[in-house]
Amino acid sequence: MAYQTLIVEIEDYVALIRLNRPEALNALNSTLLGELAEALKAADANEKVRCIVITGSEKAFAAGADIKEMADKSFVDMYTQNYFSDNSDSILRTRKPIIAAVAGYALGGGCELAMMCDFIICADNAKFGQPEINLGVVAGIGGTQRLTRFVGKSKSMDMHLTGRFMDAAEAERSGLVSRVVPAAKLMQEAMAVAQKVAEKSVLTSMVVKECVNRSYETTLQEGVHFERRIFFSLFSTEDQKEGMSAFLEKRQPQFRDK
Ligand code: CAA
Repeated sequence: MAYQTLIVEIEDYVALIRLNRPEALNALNSTLLGELAEALKAADANEKVRCIVITGSEKAFAAGADIKEMADKSFVDMYTQNYFSDNSDSILRTRKPIIAAVAGYALGGGCELAMMCDFIICADNAKFGQPEINLGVVAGIGGTQRLTRFVGKSKSMDMHLTGRFMDAAEAERSGLVSRVVPAAKLMQEAMAVAQKVAEKSVLTSMVVKECVNRSYETTLQEGVHFERRIFFSLFSTEDQKEGMSAFLEKRQPQFRDK
């Protein structure tokens, strides 16, 4: 399917979704978020996809929500359109693993989009920020909540109140990203990690997502109880039998997502 604002390629069980609005540093507008929601839904439904990578350009993952699109909107417009909400929630509804491969700017909605992915790999030139305060607004698709959970209250307040950017080294130190790689190797590394994820059972990957995400929503005791129930239930799958047999037979497992 052809998109106006995305380039989507599927190869070796990995869907690569590239944000493609170079004229606006990949600023997120309604078209882009709508298309992203569609592309993610299609990837989730496609048996040839076991892992998804979202990336931008070398200069910008995404420089935020599109200020030109938003500038003249009223409260009533934003409220009645529930601006961005449904399409950004679709990222969270995606059940297959999503890796954000971030180079350059990931600001405002761009930082929030990266944080809605399952983990972030960034280039050493990456810059993260929530500079909405400079526009007289606050983050609107989860930044005040998610950044705080990633980096803690003090750093999150610092970022949101000053609008300053965080470089790749600080992002890794603070737990915002899982790995930093040289900018020239970002896509090679991100695709290699995606390939590793795609080798696993996608059924089990989806279960991992559910369990880890549950830790945001519940108490430790409830979360551990949930994990235990899920762990036991996986003994009803063919992939558990295959994974454990393969280990005992000293061979690579052939998962069938069943
Ligand atoms: N929306 C719309 N257009 C944007 C944009 C954005 N968020 N960010 C950059 N652009 C456009 C610029 O207007 C410019 O277009 P023109 O050539 O037509 O003027 C083009 O992209 C290139 O940008 P710059 O010339 O500004 O590039 P730069 O290298 O000098 O600066 C930058 C890069 C520091 C990222 C700067 O563009 C910038 O500060 N952008 C805005 C960042 C921002 O405030 N993001 C938060 C948006 S609000 C939000 O995201 C709310 C939410 O949570 C949902």
